[in-house]
Amino acid sequence: MSEILNVSGLHAGYGAGDVLVDISVSVSGGEAVAILGANGAGKTTLLRSISGLLKSRGEVVFLGQSLSGRPPYKRARAGLAHVPQGRGTLSHLTVAENLWAGAHASGRERKEIIAHWFDVFPRLGERRNQMAGSLSGGEQQLLAVARAMAGNPQLVLLDEPSLGLAPLMVKSVFAELKRINSEFGTALLIVEQNATASLSIADRAYVLEAGRVTVEGAAADLAANDHVRRAYLGI
Ligand SMILES: Nc1ncnc2c1ncn2[C@@H]1O[C@H](COP(=O)(O)OP(=O)(O)OP(=O)(O)O)[C@@H](O)[C@H]1O
Ligand SMILES: [Mg+2]
Repeated sequence: MSEILNVSGLHAGYGAGDVLVDISVSVSGGEAVAILGANGAGKTTLLRSISGLLKSRGEVVFLGQSLSGRPPYKRARAGLAHVPQGRGTLSHLTVAENLWAGAHASGRERKEIIAHWFDVFPRLGERRNQMAGSLSGGEQQLLAVARAMAGNPQLVLLDEPSLGLAPLMVKSVFAELKRINSEFGTALLIVEQNATASLSIADRAYVLEAGRVTVEGAAADLAANDHVRRAYLGI
């Protein structure tokens, strides 16, 4: 598959010096790519730069078009969804209303999209009238993913989907992500501290250390890399 996202020479920060230095990252159509990194490595900063929430320097090309200067909503309309750290569901709205907000379509098509995602995730369908804020952490993560998917994206950026979830729930959320990736062919770019979970579903991965990419390669190769094993897999 050809490349759908190409980030090159990216620098970004918050005023006092760059947090991200000369980052190059790519994602091909249908690919699942993981970015591993410790607290403060710059993972969230990278996703915010790609989705346009944070100003950056360098090139971000999506589906052959430069995204420079384009606001976040236009990037979303172009097929680039972002599930932020902490999930970003609208807690005072119901599950159905959250999906409604994620679907860019209108009228009948919008209703069909929502029904489709309730079919894919029956656990959400059963809770369609429940306030999003009263869902369990795992259910909120699923809702955040379903809301992103309701916009029919080509690529979903996921910021620490495992955060705050118990180990069994981490497994279940990653299994659903894998299912979305294989059933619908949606490409995923997942930033994670949980290297085991993210490498288990990724095709390729990058390691981000102090704002720079230090290792990259096939997920299986990274899982066998001594430095990655010691620093991120605790082996
Ligand atoms: N709004 C901000 N203003 C100033 N500095 C910030 C801001 N947000 C993040 N930073 C700094 O940028 C660096 C990278 O932060 P970032 O949130 O991207 O890391 P992260 O890899 O996502 O970490 P975590 O795993 O804890 O979420 C940190 O040193 C952080 O203090
Ligand atoms: Mg973060």
